Amino acid sequence: MDSRVFRGGRGFAYLEEQDRFLGGTQAPEMSFGFIGCGMMGQEHMRNAQLVGRASLGGVYDPAPKSVDCALEIAARAKGTTKPRVYASLEEACADPSTDALIVATPNFTHLDVMRVATRYNKAIFLEKPIATTVSDALEVCRLAANHTQPVRVGLQYRYKAVYAEAMEEVFGRQSVGRVCSVNMLEHRFPFLDKVGQWNKFNAYTGGTLIEKCCHYFDLMNLFAGGAPEQVFASGSQAVNFRNFAYDNQQADGLDQAQVVVNYDNGVIGGFSLSMFVPGAREELVVCGDAGRLHTVEQAQLGSENQNHLEVWAGESGRSRSSAPTYPSYIAKAGHHGATFYEHLAFVEDLVSGKATGPSLADAFWSVVVGAAAQTSIDKRTAIDIADVLPVTDDIQDLMLCGAGL
Ligand SMILES: NC(=O)c1ccc[n+]([C@@H]2O[C@H](COP(=O)([O-])OP(=O)(O)OC[C@H]3O[C@@H](n4cnc5c(N)ncnc54)[C@H](O)[C@@H]3O)[C@@H](O)[C@H]2O)c1
Repeated sequence: MDSRVFRGGRGFAYLEEQDRFLGGTQAPEMSFGFIGCGMMGQEHMRNAQLVGRASLGGVYDPAPKSVDCALEIAARAKGTTKPRVYASLEEACADPSTDALIVATPNFTHLDVMRVATRYNKAIFLEKPIATTVSDALEVCRLAANHTQPVRVGLQYRYKAVYAEAMEEVFGRQSVGRVCSVNMLEHRFPFLDKVGQWNKFNAYTGGTLIEKCCHYFDLMNLFAGGAPEQVFASGSQAVNFRNFAYDNQQADGLDQAQVVVNYDNGVIGGFSLSMFVPGAREELVVCGDAGRLHTVEQAQLGSENQNHLEVWAGESGRSRSSAPTYPSYIAKAGHHGATFYEHLAFVEDLVSGKATGPSLADAFWSVVVGAAAQTSIDKRTAIDIADVLPVTDDIQDLMLCGAGL
């Protein structure tokens, strides 16, 4: 039985190495360099440590406090060597001792970082959204497709316990039959403080519906099982940061929205966002011709997270409800455990060469739907997806070979 429960804790400190079996650890097989060591970069460091198959080889971040915090995380783990602190992005990418780069910099930097990182022969893990515009996202896909090593993306909500279980229900057990509609909801607290407050400004995020909601559009695209065709959205900056300015710039990110997505297979998607709520609640509802699936992940501010999943099967099967969860020490490592399983998939991918997680094409389409929704709000009209795609031969290639990217 393999469990990290038996490895940690001071209670086993008296054991010699040869007496550790259940509590034995193996030396990491690979080394990661971390580019961007803010909130998400640090979460990646903690999870790389928890998975235990990659050492923290080095860090690059222009903000000294982010670097200090990253080094503290590394220092807390026993038996690890201090990561190198790189003076530049080039130095980080060129370090021959690391096997992969984990990029967790602000959205507007992703394309520039990728332009440098793909010059080196290393695997890359790039945080979501892959870029702030559709044309930049396409450029990231091109860079990834031509790269010599795997490039993976941080659409980690696919690994959240409720959504991973929902995939099993909808695709594995076919619990709802043919999917007809997919609805998602995120009602949560405002955007948190960030280095340079980049997440308050559309120019740096791509817009809230790209920055935050690419996760939900990725899941909607996945469960819908078709290509998004048309998007109609309404949204506004109703409450948050209306009087917030930074570097003489007025915050302009929207904090509420309703989005409707029509898919080419007839599936209808809906999404509701509110970002001035004292807690965090996410919902997924998938209705099919044989049943209905509903998931909830929620926590009021200051309370424990709760997960719930229910399937209504009527006469076509067994209705049921459950509470999919991960062990608490994994859930606590970030995003309710999704980041840990995302890391597991990434290292497995590097070792076996078999990609299992979301692809670059998935990441591209999540940006496309977000961009169409932002445009729909700006223009107050429905937007055909074809109108937000760049006009180029490459986009045809991307559509044809998207799943293989
Ligand atoms: N997968 C998820 O669920 C999830 C959650 C949160 C954030 N993110 C994504 O992670 C990325 C980082 O977000 P965050 O919340 O950690 O922001 P943050 O502001 O907390 O951290 C970003 C860090 O990147 C550093 N940085 C800025 N430009 C850089 C550059 N060119 N090279 C190296 N470092 C640079 C900043 O100094 C800062 O320390 C964003 O793309 C965000 O959308 C993903």
